[in-house]
Amino acid sequence: MIEGLHEGNKTIDESKQGEVTLLDSTKGGNKKLYLESYGCQMNFSDSEVVASILSKEGYETVSQSSEADVVLLNTCSIRDNAEQRVRTRLKQFKNAKKERPNLVVGVLGCMAERLKKKLLDQEKLVDLVAGPDAYRDLPGLISEVEGGQKAVNVLLSREETYADISPVRLDKNGVTAFISIMRGCDNMCSFCVVPFTRGRERSRDPQSIVQEAKELYDNGYREVTLLGQNVDSYRWNMSSKGRIKDESKPTVNFAELLEMVAQVAPDLRIRFSTSHPKDMTDDVLHAMAKYDNICKYIHLPVQSGNTEMLKKMNRGYSREWYMNRIEAIHRIIPGCAISTDIITGFCGETDEQHNETISLMKEVKYDFAYMFKYSERPRTLAERKYEDDVPDEVKKARLQEIIQLQQQHSAESNKRQLGKTFEVLIEGVSKKSDDDLCGRNTHNTMVVFPKGDYQKGQYVKVKVTDCTSATLLGEVVDEEKVLTTA
Ligand code: 5AD
Ligand code: SF4
Repeated sequence: MIEGLHEGNKTIDESKQGEVTLLDSTKGGNKKLYLESYGCQMNFSDSEVVASILSKEGYETVSQSSEADVVLLNTCSIRDNAEQRVRTRLKQFKNAKKERPNLVVGVLGCMAERLKKKLLDQEKLVDLVAGPDAYRDLPGLISEVEGGQKAVNVLLSREETYADISPVRLDKNGVTAFISIMRGCDNMCSFCVVPFTRGRERSRDPQSIVQEAKELYDNGYREVTLLGQNVDSYRWNMSSKGRIKDESKPTVNFAELLEMVAQVAPDLRIRFSTSHPKDMTDDVLHAMAKYDNICKYIHLPVQSGNTEMLKKMNRGYSREWYMNRIEAIHRIIPGCAISTDIITGFCGETDEQHNETISLMKEVKYDFAYMFKYSERPRTLAERKYEDDVPDEVKKARLQEIIQLQQQHSAESNKRQLGKTFEVLIEGVSKKSDDDLCGRNTHNTMVVFPKGDYQKGQYVKVKVTDCTSATLLGEVVDEEKVLTTA
């Protein structure tokens, strides 16, 4: 657990920030694209869509920006420091353009949507700005720039889900992949910029989701993570008020979608992110309990342990409601791992209110948490309505306090696993040693073990013999290839 980046719906891997999308399948293109991605998993998943759209136009992805005709940065706006990081990078490309005036530099994603033409006019940092719903227009936008214009498309859509675009996979392990099941967010949490940068919530056709899962499985993938800002409000053929849109067709909610994907193959693991405490139904939990291949891990952001803060955050639940959801998880899926997101120092937060976050953490004992200090974002409800009045020093001290507590809880959680045997899906060679392999157990914890003759994509049973703060260490105890994923 880090005070790291994490956006909207999914954890952000700090080591992946600024990672370059490189795709073998695009080799041989006559134009060269350098695509760097920041922020959450949804952005990385979008970069796969962008690469797919541009590869059809003859673009080949390259690993060095110095080789590129077009440089695109897929960006994040969730906290101010995420934007600062991208700005620094953009200034470097602006300098590069002095020597290579034909280089096209573009900004995609949340910063593009938030700052729109400002990036072109006031800051003069880039040639092209494309918001998250405008990627189909990228070939046209690039041509405009090549014709000497600046190009912008930041139109948000109520329909775009890129359902028909088969993303070229960026996660090169060939074992785990992300499937975006919805876009946007209608929740309007008062601190959050996502509803402004990613627009209205819309769900993707379930058949296209199942089809994508099948194709991944046929290509050797063994784990899919279904992505959405609030997966529990996934709905197909149903309005937000529950009205059926087309009586002749079935409706699908998230619990039903989970079952549909779980049925693709018994040895295809399913994960999902992010759940919302106000919308997570027992039906979803029962679906998880029913299928061995749905991983027993839920990311359930709490944000604060104090009901008044939660109200100001416009989260739509109280502390009691949240705790009731935690109880439901334990009751329906015993042993399920739970992680969360927490914000310290939101507008007006008192010491007592902060202490309620601490007491909630002690009650729940999360296996993992992403923790942040509050960063005011332009246009949000909180920016307009409340004063950002907790001094930075206090925000930081509170953050340190919860990070330390969480470290204890994570270490305890890992120690409880000693001696247990887990099914692990092998993702590849361990980062630290070529003699070891690594993969996750159902709880999403990384497990490292000696290589033997095992291959990535295989399931093995690993007995845990030791642990570090974030990783379990063990050895394979069963020689047979295991076909279930519990
Ligand atoms: N400041 C700090 N953290 C934020 N998050 C979202 N917006 C902000 C903000 N303005 C955190 C929340 C959310 C996670 C994705 O990022 O905890 O769950
Ligand atoms: Fe998540 Fe709330 Fe932001 Fe939506 S508005 S992305 S639910 S934090």
